[in-house]
Amino acid sequence: MTGADPAQAPGHRGDSRLERLWDPAADPAADPATDPAAPAPSRQDVRGGRLPSGLGDRYDGDLRVALRPDRPTVIANFVSTIDGVVAFDTDGSTGGGEVSGFADSDRFVMGLLRAMADAVLVGAGTIRAAPTHEWTPRRVQPGSAGLYAAWRDAMGIASPQPTTIVATASGSLDPKHPGLSAPDVPVILVTTESGAARLRAAGPAPNARIEVAASGGPIAAAALVEIAARSGARLVLCEGGPHLIGDLLAAGLLDELFLTLAPQLAGRDDATSRLALVEGTAFEIATAPWAELGSVRRSGDHLFLRYRIGGPVSSRKPA
Ligand SMILES: NC(=O)c1ccc[n+]([C@@H]2O[C@H](COP(=O)([O-])OP(=O)(O)OC[C@H]3O[C@@H](n4cnc5c(N)ncnc54)[C@H](OP(=O)(O)O)[C@@H]3O)[C@@H](O)[C@H]2O)c1
Repeated sequence: MTGADPAQAPGHRGDSRLERLWDPAADPAADPATDPAAPAPSRQDVRGGRLPSGLGDRYDGDLRVALRPDRPTVIANFVSTIDGVVAFDTDGSTGGGEVSGFADSDRFVMGLLRAMADAVLVGAGTIRAAPTHEWTPRRVQPGSAGLYAAWRDAMGIASPQPTTIVATASGSLDPKHPGLSAPDVPVILVTTESGAARLRAAGPAPNARIEVAASGGPIAAAALVEIAARSGARLVLCEGGPHLIGDLLAAGLLDELFLTLAPQLAGRDDATSRLALVEGTAFEIATAPWAELGSVRRSGDHLFLRYRIGGPVSSRKPA
């Protein structure tokens, strides 16, 4: 994000309240808690549930994510323009804030997802693009920090802050970055052998540890998820960027996408390359992943879409 005044951004929306347009899972009739015959959902199977007052009224319903038995569930959260752009440039001087118009509603949902996650997974490009950020619920919407913390506690998540897991092949990161150095935020820097040497030379903060997951080149997405699992994570929230999300999708490791569609068009031309939601990975028509719509909310002209990646999509192939 840049230093632009969020309140002056043309697309800014000061109201964080969402309106549920379609969300079958948030229908009280579908909630096992309202059916005395239904078994109570176990913390082993589900993260989240009924949102407490102050959060549930703003999200307009419940929020729960199924936990996989075989590996951590991986969800992602992005904001894009109508034409699929997630950053106005590629040099890291702009980020999701400019795309959402610094919408409070988008920041509120980002905070909710961080509050329920054990770990937030980000690529080094996203860290470098946001030199003052911290990948915690309290940072994204400070006014809701107390409510997020109480909900996290009620869900029985032991760590007060999600672990920040960073993928970096090069190890080219500033150890003093606030997102990597807050004493109460655990950080895992997943890197290569040369990246680890560079990170050690820079002197990581005491809250950060280095994990070597590849001798060189990109780190397999499966290794990133495995490291999250070893740290005890059951729910991992990936906040990008586009290259990292491409790696997860290509490996079939992304379970859900929470996509905010901002009512803005960015465009591109030969001189202006702008990042789209997925970069560095191009799928063939036959194998491109499809998604199933899970829910739709709105706040003003912003749409909040939830997709399950994979799964049955009846319109996938012509009859
Ligand atoms: N609108 C949104 O919701 C949103 C969300 C996130 C990011 N963004 C924007 O996207 C831009 C950054 O895009 P990006 O594609 O460069 O982001 P990125 O995927 O976060 O960063 C790419 C870098 O991350 C590291 N990386 C990613 N996957 C890796 C892997 N499998 N193994 C090893 N290292 C890996 C590498 O770092 P090294 O170079 O250190 O090796 C790579 O150069 C920024 O402007 C950011 O603000 C927007």
